[in-house]
Amino acid sequence: ETVYVLNGPNLNLLGTREPEIYGYDTLDDIAGMLEDRAQELDLEVDVRQSNHEGHLIDWLHEAQATGARAVLLNAGAFTHTSVALYDAIKSIRTPVIEVHLSNPHTREAFRHKSYVGMAALGTVAGFGPGSYVLALEAAARL
Ligand code: DQA
Repeated sequence: ETVYVLNGPNLNLLGTREPEIYGYDTLDDIAGMLEDRAQELDLEVDVRQSNHEGHLIDWLHEAQATGARAVLLNAGAFTHTSVALYDAIKSIRTPVIEVHLSNPHTREAFRHKSYVGMAALGTVAGFGPGSYVLALEAAARL
């Protein structure tokens, strides 16, 4: 069974992007951690990244169409702006788990609202790459 791991804008720059906030691991490093844990959990992960809102929406629809077990979604800044992502999550039955490396609630006020979180099953935030691993473990328990 497959868990989609969808990453939004600027997450392709992990490793060099504001490392004091997001750390030095790249998205490929995180994908490797997830593949290792997925193997132990008897799951597969499909890790993707796009800077384009519509791609994330298409991939959410695809997750339902292909019968994915769950979606881990780090929508980056679209988290805080996108009614379209909110609607997409509401439009599918596939469980969506919101993920963030940082804890948005300890940061700027504009990060305190989450359209993704308003539609997601649950949220894991603030544990760096560990947020993704914890969310995968949550998906395994569903
Ligand atoms: C983020 C938090 C968002 O507020 C920010 O826009 C990001 C990364 C995180 O993983 O901590 O791009 O989603």
